[in-house]
Amino acid sequence: MSAPKKLFIKTYGCQMNVYDSERMAEALGGQGYEQTATPDDADMILLNTCHIREKAAEKVYSELGRYKGLKAAKPDLKIGVAGCVAQAEGEEIMRRQPMVDLVVGPQSYHRLPALEAKAGRGAKALDTDFPEEDKFEHLAQRPRARRAPSAFLTVQEGCDKFCAFCVVPYTRGAEVSRPAERVLAEARDLVERGVREITLLGQNVNAYHGHEGGLAGLIHALAGIDGLARIRFTTSHPNDMDDALIAAHRDCEKLMPYLHLPVQSGSDRILKRMNRQHTRDDYFRIIDRLRAARPDLHLSGDFIVGFPEESDQDFEDTMDLIERVGYGSAFSFKYSTRPGTPAAERAQLPEEVKDARLQRLQALLTRQQQALQDAMVGRTVKVLFEKPGRLEGQMVGKSEYLHAVHVQADGLTPGDLREVRIVESGPNSLKGVLPA
Ligand code: 5AD
Ligand code: SF4
Repeated sequence: MSAPKKLFIKTYGCQMNVYDSERMAEALGGQGYEQTATPDDADMILLNTCHIREKAAEKVYSELGRYKGLKAAKPDLKIGVAGCVAQAEGEEIMRRQPMVDLVVGPQSYHRLPALEAKAGRGAKALDTDFPEEDKFEHLAQRPRARRAPSAFLTVQEGCDKFCAFCVVPYTRGAEVSRPAERVLAEARDLVERGVREITLLGQNVNAYHGHEGGLAGLIHALAGIDGLARIRFTTSHPNDMDDALIAAHRDCEKLMPYLHLPVQSGSDRILKRMNRQHTRDDYFRIIDRLRAARPDLHLSGDFIVGFPEESDQDFEDTMDLIERVGYGSAFSFKYSTRPGTPAAERAQLPEEVKDARLQRLQALLTRQQQALQDAMVGRTVKVLFEKPGRLEGQMVGKSEYLHAVHVQADGLTPGDLREVRIVESGPNSLKGVLPA
């Protein structure tokens, strides 16, 4: 048997790409590839890309530039681009970087083995179709190796919302849900291999309709799997936060009290210009209902500053919304023009204005995040331990609220779920002790 070929995958962007990269590595495993941690000894380099903001796409081209020397030294090296930049730019990538052998869009990963074979014959391989079939169904089965305690599972892809700033409806296509039986079978398999926490992924995961009860129905079904201790889901749109899903935060013990619910802006005028289809008061009402269902819920969100026409007052409205909600964590971005989206055609704000607003907004979010984390000191939380820490005898895991918790104790192993008393709060993590 010939020695395995080496595959180096670099993943950009969201958690869905992390999941896709795992599945692509498995699919290429069937073609005789095993993964390597460095591009230097690779036979194939695969960039799994993100197109959400301009910088993310530009990074891909500069990364490709860095592989020129490797390709010159090893002409058989195959270079592939997958993910949303592949979908959006298609052939243009090969024109701009002729050393790219393979371009594959996110909906075509099940065709990866055939594309790899084509590239292996020295031909350019390109597939950016939106086929009807479920790509995950046709991808190689997950190998039966032991898994880390926490895993991602993609249940839904694509988006029909068309926010005016966003490329997702174009790169990932229309909303598609995977049937519940397949998700449940994959979840059972993960649990048999050591997984105790599953994060359900989708660009619009709460629009999931592969189960008759929607996402809430799927969560209740998953909660029936023995050995699965925790369920999370991300990322959600406020308008798909239905009654059943809100109630699940009260009724389903395995559903963790942490929710990523992006609002993007706190100004009604900008929300309208963004085509978000909800107002700030709608958002407040949903948060109130969620907190009534689960009082200790930690919220997370996404914010865009400097959207076209955002006035000082609009920005203050966003700051006010953040003050009122109080976030446990959040992601915030300067608006970035994306060709082909409606907002790209509008007059843009000066960069200095965007910079100044982002700084103020991030300072506020960081204060809130730190305050909520500090408030954990003295409390007892449940930690799912994931891996050894940097110090001898230390283990690191996550609390219900997704805080990283370090514990110094003998006999802890990854996958253990233990009560921990929090004794200290640092800049990015908590320190705890096992109760005596
Ligand atoms: N500019 C800046 N941020 C964006 N996002 C999506 N599109 C853009 C854009 N054009 C942000 C949104 C979204 C997150 C995934 O990325 O906040 O929720
Ligand atoms: Fe993009 Fe809006 Fe869809 Fe989220 S809901 S993926 S921001 S279009």
